[in-house]
Amino acid sequence: MTELTIAMPKGRIFEEAYEMLIQAGFDLPEDVEISRKLMIEIPSEKIRFILAKPMDVPTYVEHGVADIGIAGKDVLLEQGRAVHELLDLKISKCYIASAGLPNTKLNDIAPRIATKYPTVASHYYREKGEQVEIIGLNGSIELAPMIGLADRIVDIVSTGQTLKENGLVEYEHITDVSSRLIANPVSYRMKNERIQNLVKRLKKCVK
Ligand code: PRP
Repeated sequence: MTELTIAMPKGRIFEEAYEMLIQAGFDLPEDVEISRKLMIEIPSEKIRFILAKPMDVPTYVEHGVADIGIAGKDVLLEQGRAVHELLDLKISKCYIASAGLPNTKLNDIAPRIATKYPTVASHYYREKGEQVEIIGLNGSIELAPMIGLADRIVDIVSTGQTLKENGLVEYEHITDVSSRLIANPVSYRMKNERIQNLVKRLKKCVK
């Protein structure tokens, strides 16, 4: 059996992805999340898991150091990497939306949009025929309109709690997001049987 390396996202998505792998019969150790280990081997299955930042999962897969990965559609849309999308796991569901302070209209010639999704945001406003200025941030995006850095944000909404607690309202629903199983194109060809088997096992667990 050929060895398979799977890149898993650390953080929020991890828990649901972990549950799904356990359901699919993968014998993952219980303390994965508590431990600081970044590589977990399952010799009985000839599988090796690497734990990466969610934004970095497609990078590992595109470069072929991971054959398979679990990545959010938000990250895939933003990065447009050369990977195959094999399966919608329908976990970690959320959406990308624009938001801002209540009752504010965009009158400026080029309103400022703060986001950690510059490509998604530019594409969205270009399609709408609206000219905007994109301000790239790495996190705590909700701060931007509060402190006067931007007129709107484009960000992930999951429970809506962060918007609410920071006095922001949603303006536009941009796109739905969920986690996807992705593969390196060469691995997909060379390790097709193994990968198809994994897809089959996971497909059964998609709700
Ligand atoms: C994400 C996103 C929002 C928040 C949405 O941030 O950027 O800020 O979660 O979730 P909610 O609708 O359930 O409140 P994350 O926690 O990943 O941290 P970040 O600010 O570092 O991007």
